[in-house]
Amino acid sequence: MSTNINQDNLPNLQELEQLANQFFKSGPADVVSQLPLQQTPEAFPLSGNVADAALFNQFPHINAPSVSAPSSTIGGGGVSPSAVNQNNVVNLKDPQTSFADPNLSSSPHPAAPVRDSNPIAFGGQFPTKPGYGYDSYLVKTDLIPDVSLKQSFPVEQLSPAPEGLFQLPYQQEQAFDIDLKKILSDIRTSGPSNALPFTGAPVATEIPFYFLSDNHGLPAVKSEPEKVKPAGLSHIISPPFDVNIVRRDFPILQEQVNGKQLVWLDNAATTQKPRQVIDRISYFYEHENSNIHRAAHELAARATDAYEGARKKVQTFLNAHSINEIIFVRGATEAINLVAKSWGEQNLNAGDEIIVSQLEHHANIVPWQQLAAKKGLKIKVIPVDDDGQILIDEYVKLLGPKTKLVSFTQVSNALGTVTPAAQIVQLAHLAGAKVLVDGAQSVSHMPVDVQVLDADWFVFSGHKVFGPTGIGVLYGKEDLLNETQPWQGGGNMIKDVTFEHTQYHDAPSRFEAGTGNIADAVGLGAAIDYVSRLGMPLIAQYEHYLLVYATQLLKEVKGIRLIGTAPDKASVLSFVLDGYKTEEVGAALNKQGIAVRSGHHCAQPILRRFGVEATVRPSLAFYNTCAEIDLLVNTLHSLKR
Ligand code: ALA
Repeated sequence: MSTNINQDNLPNLQELEQLANQFFKSGPADVVSQLPLQQTPEAFPLSGNVADAALFNQFPHINAPSVSAPSSTIGGGGVSPSAVNQNNVVNLKDPQTSFADPNLSSSPHPAAPVRDSNPIAFGGQFPTKPGYGYDSYLVKTDLIPDVSLKQSFPVEQLSPAPEGLFQLPYQQEQAFDIDLKKILSDIRTSGPSNALPFTGAPVATEIPFYFLSDNHGLPAVKSEPEKVKPAGLSHIISPPFDVNIVRRDFPILQEQVNGKQLVWLDNAATTQKPRQVIDRISYFYEHENSNIHRAAHELAARATDAYEGARKKVQTFLNAHSINEIIFVRGATEAINLVAKSWGEQNLNAGDEIIVSQLEHHANIVPWQQLAAKKGLKIKVIPVDDDGQILIDEYVKLLGPKTKLVSFTQVSNALGTVTPAAQIVQLAHLAGAKVLVDGAQSVSHMPVDVQVLDADWFVFSGHKVFGPTGIGVLYGKEDLLNETQPWQGGGNMIKDVTFEHTQYHDAPSRFEAGTGNIADAVGLGAAIDYVSRLGMPLIAQYEHYLLVYATQLLKEVKGIRLIGTAPDKASVLSFVLDGYKTEEVGAALNKQGIAVRSGHHCAQPILRRFGVEATVRPSLAFYNTCAEIDLLVNTLHSLKR
C-alpha cells in the first residue's frame, strides 16, 4: 500500500482514508452490508377478527369456538359483528367467516392498534397445523392427519443442522440462509403467484476507517434519514419460515431438562440465542477484540467498526432518523434510569407531574419514584380495565399543564397487553409533555418504527430480542439528547478536559462514558440481523396465531383464571390455577422440561389490580410450537386430574 507524500512530508490523508476503506472492504463490516437483510417493514393492516376466524376454521378439533358476546374475544382477535348470532353467541366456525368476507374487515376494538398481517403472504391459506408442532408455513395442511387435542403430543425431536453447513458469521452463507433460499426457490415455483422475490434491503452503510475521520474516534457518520423502500409489494410480503428450521439455530432448545427436551416458555424474562449470535460474539473475541475509538491499530479499527456497525443495525431496526440517536446501555432498566437521572434531573421541578400506566414493571416505576422523592414531583397512574387495557379516557383526564412526562410500556410483561402507544404519545405531546416508551417486551414481537411512534425516547434490552444480556438501547430524538446533560462522566464522552472545565461530545458518545459492552453490542447487531431476516411482521403474525391457539386451549383447563385478556396482546399468557400456588404449577411444568416464570414478574402493582400477588406466566417466541403448547396444556390438565 503506498500513498503520495505531500509537501509537509506527510501522506495524503484523503488518499490514505480511501485506501484504508478499501482495505476494510474485505473485512466483516462490509460483507454484512452485502447480506440480504429485510428492511423493517410496515405492518400490513388486516383486522384481527379475520385472521382469528380463519384460524378457527382451520382448527376443527378445537371444541369451544363459541364465546359469549360482548366479551367476545378470543386471544388477540376480537369477533366480527357478523359472526354474532341472535343469542349473542359467537360462532367462529361460521362458514361465512373467512378471509374473503368483507364484513369482517372492521375491528370491534377501534382504539386498539391493528397488527395482524397479510394473508397474501400465505397465498390466502392459513399456514399452521396445530397439535403436531408442524407450524411450518410450507407443509400442506391436507397432508397432516387431524388429531384430537386430548391425545398427547410429544414435542418434536428436531434433527441437528447438517454437518459443516454453519459458518462463522459473515464468512459464507449460513445454514439459515441456505435453508431460506431453498424454501424461497420452492415457493417461487409452487407458491402463490403474487409472491415476489425476497429483495432484501441495504443495511450497514460504510463507516470510514475511524481514526482517519475528522472527528477522531467518534461515530463518523452523521447519517441522513434512510428511507429505503423495497420495490413493489416486498415490504409487506415476508419470506415464509419453517419453525423447525428456525429452531435448529437455537442450540439450547435441544437441551434436556429432567430427562425431557426443554420447552422454553419464559421468553418475557429472557429469550434464547441463535447460533449466529453466539458465534458472532466468539468471532469478535477471536478476531476483533480491542477497545474502541481509541487507538491507531487494526484491531481497534475492527472493534470500532463492529460496534458502530451494530449501532447502525439498531438504527435501521427502529427506523431512527439518525445513528446518533442510538445509545448503548446495559438494558431497558438502565436506559430509563439514564433519562430520569439526566433529562429528569435537569428539567423537572417541584409540582411537575409524571404519568405512568398501571401496567408498568418496576423498572418504569422506581426511577420516577426516586426522582419524585428528590424533587417533589407527583406521579399519576393511568388505570386499566378488567381485561388489562389502558383506559384512554382516564388518561386524558390525567393530562394537564403540569404533566411533563408520560412513561409507559408498549407491551405489558405481566399481562401481554399491547397498549395504543401512538395514541398515548400523541395525546402527551398535545399536552406539551415528553414521552418515553418502554419497548422491553415489544421489540421482539412486532415491528417498531420510532419515527411513526414519535416518542421522545424508546428503550429496549438486547437479551429480550435474542441478543446477549448486559446490552440494551436508549433511542432518543437527536436534538433532545444533545440538549440533555450527561448522567455519567468519564472517557469517551468528552471532547476536551482541563482541571477547570470539560466539554462533552454530542450523542451518542455523550451518554457512553467509559468502556462499554462492546462484544455484546456486536452480538445484539447479529440478533437484529437474525430477526430482520425472518421479518418482524411475520414473527408478529406467527406468534399471534400461537397466542390465540394457546389462549383457547388454556381456557379449557379446569379452575384456570387468565389474568390479562385484552383483545390486543403479545406473547404473554398469565394465569392462576385454582388449588395450586403458582410455584407449584411452575415446579410441575419444570418436571416436564417446561420453563415458565411464576411470581410477580417485577410488576406487583398490575398483579394487585387483579387481586393476585403472583401468576404463572408462559410467554412465547417465534421458535415455540403448537406441540409445546399442547404439552403445557396437557400438563395442566393432568395436574387438575
Ligand atoms: N422483566 C422481566 C420479566 O418480565 C424480568 O420477567
